[in-house]
Amino acid sequence: MQPILQLVGARPNFMKAAPVIHAADDRGLKQTLVHTGQHYDTLMSDVFFSDLGIPLPEINLGVGSGSHARQTATLMTSLEEVFANVEPSVVVVYGDVNSTLAAAVTAAKLCIPVAHVEAGLRSFDRTMPEEVNRVVTDALSEVLFATSPEAIGHLANEGVSPDRVHLVGNPMIDTLFAARARFDDEPVRERLNLHGDFVLSTLHRPSNVDDADVAVRIVKQIKLAAELLPVVVPLHPRGRELLSGAGLVDGQGVRVIDPLGYTEFASLMSVATVVLTDSGGIQEETTMLDVPCLTVRPNTERPITITHGTNRLVDPEGILNGITSVLDGSWVAPVDRPPLWDGRAGERIAGMLHVWT
Ligand code: UD1
Repeated sequence: MQPILQLVGARPNFMKAAPVIHAADDRGLKQTLVHTGQHYDTLMSDVFFSDLGIPLPEINLGVGSGSHARQTATLMTSLEEVFANVEPSVVVVYGDVNSTLAAAVTAAKLCIPVAHVEAGLRSFDRTMPEEVNRVVTDALSEVLFATSPEAIGHLANEGVSPDRVHLVGNPMIDTLFAARARFDDEPVRERLNLHGDFVLSTLHRPSNVDDADVAVRIVKQIKLAAELLPVVVPLHPRGRELLSGAGLVDGQGVRVIDPLGYTEFASLMSVATVVLTDSGGIQEETTMLDVPCLTVRPNTERPITITHGTNRLVDPEGILNGITSVLDGSWVAPVDRPPLWDGRAGERIAGMLHVWT
């Protein structure tokens, strides 16, 4: 029997893949897990495998960092060999990171079907590397698993036949719901000496942390916010240098810490007063946790978190106003939540992957 090849590479892939891998295991499907090593720090990778109960990858390519072209090219070269050896019946890719793109292109050229989980999201902003990855991956995928209804329209507009697209819900939310029973914010609060209300912030997008002017504008607002309530910032390695240079340092109400593991981060997020982020997944998670979320971006590929959730887009100068509106009770969010975000997306996807075994 040819295995299903599950492909992960970077932090946001792990929580999307976990429920699919578990559900496929429950069905007795043969799978091979390949980690590209795009994220390689213990805190960006290893910790998630133990936290989410994902088996250790059978193959780790250790690709590491590099320019987009170099990273993608190195990945494609290694993946071509892996796919030829494993001979998978289908390659399952997740989200929009460079590993997703590299695997989709390589598999398509070897005539191996690609299944894309989280297909059809569009920010319509091609300055985002992830948008390029989304468009190319979807164009090459044979089966497209959508997390959100508007994705179906986007794919239809790009000529994808509707019979290849399946609205399955959101596996990242499966992971969130499964972890809920383990949520405990006390240990991290104790470690940080954090009491009562607080802002939780993550920033790593190139548009925010690769541009010194933007970073300075954001940090200025974070410092103003920290005069009202503590701001906790688990810092992605990407933003470290520029944000620190822009003045984002520990002290005066700002707590800059290392990235947290999944359960620890989600525990803290579930009790945050406000979340300030530029992450895609966090927009979705805060929506289901009913935590107000300010997204420091001009657009989002996840508009459903605004129309059916707690998310709001802000520019850097809007950060303090957004936080104040939560504190003074004038923040209002829609009550409906996205359809099928019910914790069962992994089962639905595994059910459809069955045809390849
Ligand atoms: C990647 C994804 C992004 C996702 C993010 C989540 C792409 C194009 N981007 O961005 O969509 O939101 O992951 O984290 O794939 N680094 C480390 N240790 C690591 C990983 C990265 O120090 O384990 C540093 C390196 O300096 C590296 C930089 O972070 O150059 C960027 O890493 P990279 O994998 O290129 O993209 P991310 O910014 O992490």
